[in-house]
Amino acid sequence: MIFFLVVMVGIQFIPTNPNQSDVVPDTDFMLVNKVPSKIRGIIEVSCYDCHSNNTKYPWYNKIQPAAWYLESHINEGKSVLNFNEWGTLSDRRKKSKLKSIKSQIKNGKMPMQSYTFIHKDATLSGDDRTYIAKYLQELSSSIK
Ligand code: HEC
Repeated sequence: MIFFLVVMVGIQFIPTNPNQSDVVPDTDFMLVNKVPSKIRGIIEVSCYDCHSNNTKYPWYNKIQPAAWYLESHINEGKSVLNFNEWGTLSDRRKKSKLKSIKSQIKNGKMPMQSYTFIHKDATLSGDDRTYIAKYLQELSSSIK
C-alpha cells in the first residue's frame, strides 16, 4: 500500500509533452475545404483534441497516469489522421481518409467512448452523425 502511494505520488512529477501549437496552418481541413461553421464546430470539439496539433487540455491532464493515457491517444490519433495537415494529402488519400472518417462517425467508434465519458460536449447525436456523414460524402464526391 505504502509502495503504491509512493509510486502514485512519484509519477506526478514526470512531465508530458504538451500537444499545443496555436498556429492553424493553411493546410487545415477547415480552411482547405471552407467547411460550414456548424460542421466545423462539431468536428473541432469532438475530434481536434486527438487529431490535430492543438489539444485543449482537460483538468485531468494534471494527474498521472490519466495524462499519459491521453497523450498516448493523441500520439496515436495524430499519426493516423491530423486534420491540420489535410492539405498535404494526395486526392487519393483524402478520399480514403474521408471514407474512413465517415465510417468511424457513422458507426459511433469516434470520438472514443473513454473520451466522451468525460467530455460530454464531444458526444455526437444521431442527427449530428447523419448530418456530418452527408457532408463528408459530398466533399468526397467533389474530389476527382
Ligand atoms: C481521445 C482521442 C480521440 C478523439 C477525441 C478522436 N479520436 Fe479518432 N482516433 C484516436 C486513436 C487513438 C485512433 C487510432 C486507434 C483506433 O483506430 O482506435 C483513432 C483513429 C481514427 C481514425 C482511423 C484513421 C485511419 O485512417 O486509420 C479515424 C478516421 C478517426 N480516428 C476519426 C476521428 C473523428 C472523425 C473524430 C471526431 C468525431 C475522432 N476521431 C475523435 C483517438 C481519438
